[in-house]
Amino acid sequence: MYKQHRRKRKKLKTSLWAILLAVMLLGTSGCGFTFDMEDSLAETSEEEDLIVVGFSQVGSESVWRTANTASIQNTLSKENGFFLLFNNARQKQENQIKAIRQFISQRVDYIVVSPMTEDGWETVLNEAKDAGIPVILVDRKVRVSDHSLYTTWIGSDMEEEGKKAGYWLADYEKEHKLTGEDINIVILKGTEGATATIGRELGFREVALQHENWHIIDTPRGDFTTAKGEEVMGEMLCKHEQIDVVISQNDDMTFGAIKAIESKGYSVGENGKIIMASFDGGREALELVQEGKINVDVECNPLQGPYVERIIDVIERGLAPSKNTKVEEMVFTSQNVAEYIDKREY
Ligand code: AHR
Repeated sequence: MYKQHRRKRKKLKTSLWAILLAVMLLGTSGCGFTFDMEDSLAETSEEEDLIVVGFSQVGSESVWRTANTASIQNTLSKENGFFLLFNNARQKQENQIKAIRQFISQRVDYIVVSPMTEDGWETVLNEAKDAGIPVILVDRKVRVSDHSLYTTWIGSDMEEEGKKAGYWLADYEKEHKLTGEDINIVILKGTEGATATIGRELGFREVALQHENWHIIDTPRGDFTTAKGEEVMGEMLCKHEQIDVVISQNDDMTFGAIKAIESKGYSVGENGKIIMASFDGGREALELVQEGKINVDVECNPLQGPYVERIIDVIERGLAPSKNTKVEEMVFTSQNVAEYIDKREY
């Protein structure tokens, strides 16, 4: 499959014309494809030997997502030998499926996709497989019975991230001699059906099961956005008399939740009424860790572009890439955060 794939690159000139035609058609449909038509014309005439990649991104719901998009766009650049077709699915799986079909008809060399949810991918992935186009999953996973439907997955161990938040809370409980005291926990969940949502909840619950005094009293959906995080946290504060801990599944929801909590006159963080645990570890959130408003932030690393480039390089050399690649991640608290804030790129 990989050899056949390399041969296809020689048809770049024709493919690019097909892409241009498709983009002209899409231009009127508001599908969100972005690339510079003039540049691509120039490339076509020069017959550059570029690797054509179609990238379907979930959306732009969070700081993390913007950093993830930038990482992939900056790495899969013309300077690095790539011609990238980017599609923002704006939180709709149907848009992702449409984009993938478009990439298949454009005969791209690779399809990179960050799947919004885990289910519902069999048909379109089969189409990509039949077309002989390697599919690289980034960030989130898909639930399929046939794992040959995608070539490889690169991302975070979301379940492990959830466990890390649990381990941190267990240590905190011990240090503050709270062992045995009832602890009421609200989990602010991200997008329904997404790997980050499922994994982080599963991992945290696994640790929670070992603590009879931890009570997960509610799990509202905040869709990974600040606005929804604020809205549902406001509802939680009206609904529950005592909330001790908020496990907020990303930084953006955490910003909204903190706003809601503070506007009710409560405090958060190290010296506050409500303990805040967050995920992602973007710069703005790390500043709140330093300030003591977020107790712990479990990193989710969005800088996945270089990993994608390495995988493509492996395939280009005719080798089989590993099926799963986990990105490296850490945990931030006020103890270690100062060391990392200035280096943060996003
Ligand atoms: O799938 C990764 C998650 O999606 C990030 O935690 C979140 O910020 C994003 O929207």
